[in-house]
Amino acid sequence: MDKKRIFSGMRPTGDLHIGHLSVLENWIKLQEEYECIYGVVDLHALTTAYEDPSEIRKNGRNMLLDWLSVGLDPEKSTIMLQSSVKQHSELHLLLSMLTPLSWLERVPTYKDQIQQLSQTGKNITTYGFLGYPLLMAADILVYKSEVVPVGEDQLAHLELTRELGRRFNHLYGKEIFPEPKALLAEVPMVPGIDKRKMSKSYNNYIPIYSNHKDLQEKVRQMITDPARIKKDDPGNPDICVVYSYHKIYNKDEEKEIADLCRKGQIGCVQCKKKLGDKLISFLEPIWLKREELAKDEKVLDEILEAGNIKAREMAERTLQEVRDIMGV
Ligand code: TRP
Repeated sequence: MDKKRIFSGMRPTGDLHIGHLSVLENWIKLQEEYECIYGVVDLHALTTAYEDPSEIRKNGRNMLLDWLSVGLDPEKSTIMLQSSVKQHSELHLLLSMLTPLSWLERVPTYKDQIQQLSQTGKNITTYGFLGYPLLMAADILVYKSEVVPVGEDQLAHLELTRELGRRFNHLYGKEIFPEPKALLAEVPMVPGIDKRKMSKSYNNYIPIYSNHKDLQEKVRQMITDPARIKKDDPGNPDICVVYSYHKIYNKDEEKEIADLCRKGQIGCVQCKKKLGDKLISFLEPIWLKREELAKDEKVLDEILEAGNIKAREMAERTLQEVRDIMGV
């Protein structure tokens, strides 16, 4: 039986952080069981960065380097750039003809985001931003994807994708688009160093790509139990950011550390040093691989171009059907 097809994408809006790592690990696993297409969705980045797009290309390349150094394999998956496979844009336009405005306006993230971003001085009351979920639907439908690994925050977008596919099939009386299902991975929640949600805009993140010094510094800044003043005060690991990282990245010592902390027998400085060392031993192979990859710019171009070619072929097959049906 043919493998089911997956599409997923990430916006090149800045450094990937350690929270993305578990998402990527999931993508890597899926490569074995599915036919995967992973996209650098630069047009989506443009919906919010259009006023200053100067970083999009650079971010895209860095993101690609992160993907590859973590273990995404261009031999197994199709790795592509959204703006280079024009069929995404064409399908977005064609689908826009049959997309009721109200469906886009009622996507719950829409009004929220406009409000949030307007506080930062960004104006995203644009046609492009309203169409964000439609573009995402085009990404998915253009490959007739059946499965989409996403975070919970994307479920409403996926629901819209299904509704649009159904509307198309129904309107033209043909089963062109399968209904894509969300695949929600169990990804551990890694908090930011200040305990808030890890996010680029809070500048509280731990980047995947870093170095010994910067990484130790980030760990040093992590918030611990505020009631602990002296190093032999008993601590509460359950409210400590450092401990929540030990639980994920230092499973062997996790229990012992919690115990020592509760008894006031390990100080925060030492506990952080342990975590920093652990994170470094985990991330360093990724850094080295990335530096190797970054040496030759051409390799990256070649990987992307090979992926774009494969993606165009798949997407064009769908577009030929869609153009025929829509009479253009
Ligand atoms: N909107 C997604 C996000 O912000 C990114 C994305 C764009 C995507 N197109 C997609 C994810 C298609 C899955 C499938 O995370």
